[in-house]
Amino acid sequence: MKDTFLKVVNLLMNSKNIVFFTGAGISAESGVATFRGSDDSIWSKFKPEELANFNAFMRNPDLVWEWYQYRREIISNVKPNPAHITIAKFEQYFPNLAVITQNVDNLHKRAGSTNVFELHGNIERNYCIQCHTYYNTSDFDLKSKSVPKCKCGGLIRPDIVWFGEALPEYTFSKSKEIAETADIIFIIGTSGVVYPAAYIPVWGKQNGAKLIEINITYSELSNYCDFTLLGKAGEILPVIFELFTQNVDKV
Ligand code: OAD
Ligand code: ZN
Repeated sequence: MKDTFLKVVNLLMNSKNIVFFTGAGISAESGVATFRGSDDSIWSKFKPEELANFNAFMRNPDLVWEWYQYRREIISNVKPNPAHITIAKFEQYFPNLAVITQNVDNLHKRAGSTNVFELHGNIERNYCIQCHTYYNTSDFDLKSKSVPKCKCGGLIRPDIVWFGEALPEYTFSKSKEIAETADIIFIIGTSGVVYPAAYIPVWGKQNGAKLIEINITYSELSNYCDFTLLGKAGEILPVIFELFTQNVDKV
């Protein structure tokens, strides 16, 4: 493993454009459950078809709203962990650094990352399904169990990409462009099974990016990767950062 760390640091020393493509696993050490991969994971306890699609919302908006309130409450009580914080620190060395995340938990921005592309939306944002007015979660009573209504009378939904919905167009096309010009893409804490998001690192690879995975287990993307570092993101990323800064400071 030490050898791989050194190879990764060597690649970083010779790179300009680096990208972090992240999934739920990067927030696991903050205390946010992942969607798959353990008995506590979200989709092993809840059914996405009842909670994470537009028809479910129209059938039972209060239930869907309440579920997202429950998740918002968990997320508002957790903090970014050393993995999010390390990525934010890398910006000092790589001004072009981009974070392309599937997460809706806002933890990258809270950790200080400034160039964040949220492929699946953000749980702190909401919008009216009728007139598209945006609302912050702080505009609502977190304790209320019923879905709020817009001034126009329309139902307000979380700004999250549900199953069957398209990804935000600008964010997705910009992410593709960034991946295609990347020197390195770190793939962190994602099972790599949800498309089209999972195309992002593959497009990067096709255009010459090195792919470095950090995960506690192999994923559907491991075969594309140049290196897979097995372990927790919050432990591995700080080690890479430490080794990298030691070497940069020597130059
Ligand atoms: P998953 O829950 O599918 O995968 C989480 C990954 O994180 C797994 O591969 C775990 O092995 C890994 N993991 C867990 N703890 C880790 C740690 N401490 N360090 C590193 N890796 C760790 O999450 P995603 O791939 O993000 O969609 O799921 C993709 C999408 O499916 C989500 O964005 C969500 C979901 O339905 C929407 O919300 C629209
Ligand atoms: Zn409205």
